[in-house]
Amino acid sequence: MTPAVGQQAATEATTPEAAVTKICAACHTMELVTDTPRDYDAWHDTVQKMIDRGARGTQEEFGLVMDYLFLNMTPVDVNHGDADMLMGVLHIDEKAAQAIIARRAVRPFKDLADLEKSVSGLDRKLLESKKRMIFFQ
Ligand code: HEC
Repeated sequence: MTPAVGQQAATEATTPEAAVTKICAACHTMELVTDTPRDYDAWHDTVQKMIDRGARGTQEEFGLVMDYLFLNMTPVDVNHGDADMLMGVLHIDEKAAQAIIARRAVRPFKDLADLEKSVSGLDRKLLESKKRMIFFQ
């Protein structure tokens, strides 16, 4: 008998990128999603609105969609965000998040350049690409 596994893998999205593309680009372009960064609670409300409009997926897929939105489309204030926010949005480990928190307690960060030169273990390319989501207040 042919295993059914292949069929399931083809229909169920298993990565954040695949889930968001499958579910959120079904009615409109992905640009509509990537044009409007917003905080996690607001994303939650938006996704609920889209479900009311007819967005369909499994529980797991919507979990992956929320992961995608948190990792890629959520802004962070580097001088105030908690460790989980910093780790998720900046894609850094706990150690780097704690280094940011320790440094800003002494002197808040001025800008991206200040952050990059003061904390090691940051992915500069990623920070550059997410510039519009990284704030210093
Ligand atoms: C069943 C169709 C459908 C699906 C699937 C869908 N949307 Fe939408 N979406 C719409 C419609 C219709 C609009 C335009 C109406 C509006 O502006 O609220 C819209 C507008 C938007 C907007 C701009 C308006 C706003 O609320 O800021 C965002 C952002 C958005 N969708 C995100 C998503 C995300 C994220 C997903 C995946 C979870 C998704 N959409 C899936 C129908 C859909």
